[in-house]
Amino acid sequence: MKGLFEVDSVEETWELAARFADELRPGDVVCLEGELGAGKTTFTQGLAAALGVSGRVTSPTFCIVQEHRSSAASPRIPLLVHMDLYRLSGEEDVEAIGWEDYLSRGAVLVVEWPDRAGGLVPESARHVSFLHGEGEENRKILIDFYAVDGV
Ligand SMILES: Nc1ncnc2c1ncn2[C@@H]1O[C@H](COP(=O)(O)OP(=O)(O)OP(=O)(O)O)[C@@H](O)[C@H]1O
Ligand SMILES: [Mg+2]
Repeated sequence: MKGLFEVDSVEETWELAARFADELRPGDVVCLEGELGAGKTTFTQGLAAALGVSGRVTSPTFCIVQEHRSSAASPRIPLLVHMDLYRLSGEEDVEAIGWEDYLSRGAVLVVEWPDRAGGLVPESARHVSFLHGEGEENRKILIDFYAVDGV
C-alpha cells in the first residue's frame, strides 16, 4: 500500500496500521515522520496489536527502545522494536542502542525521529508521514508518499 489516507480517529489509525502490518517482513525498517503529537506512537500501537506482540506500546519519555516479542509459536514477525530517537544526537548513539543487532536478528524496527539515525536508515525503509491541522481532526497519514505543498 502507498498513498495518502485520511484518518478521523485513533480507531482509523489502527485499521490503517493493521493493513500496513500485513506487508511487513523481518528486517524491515519503518520510519515514522511528523511533529510532536502527530500520531506516530498511536500508529505503532496499531502495528503491535496487528502483529500480536506483547507489552503496551507507550510514548517513551525516558525509554528510547522498547522490545515487543510475539507470543505465537511461529510468528511471522517475532520481534517489533519501537525506537524513539528524539533525544539522541546522531548515528553513533543510534548504533550504540543496537540498531544493527536488532536488524540481524530479524526484528522489524519502527522508528520515531529517524533523522537521528542518518545513514543507518536503509534505502529499502518504508516511510510513514503524519500530518494534522488544528485540533484532533483532519489528520492525514502518508505511506511511502511525500507531502507536496500543503497536502
Ligand atoms: N487519528 C487520530 N485521531 C485522533 N486523535 C489521535 C489520532 N492519532 C493520535 N491521536 C491522539 O493524539 C495524541 C498524540 O498521539 P501520539 O502520541 O501517537 O503522537 P506522537 O507523534 O507519537 O508524538 P511524540 O512525537 O510526542 O512521540 C494522543 O493523545 C493520541 O490519542
Ligand atoms: Mg511518540
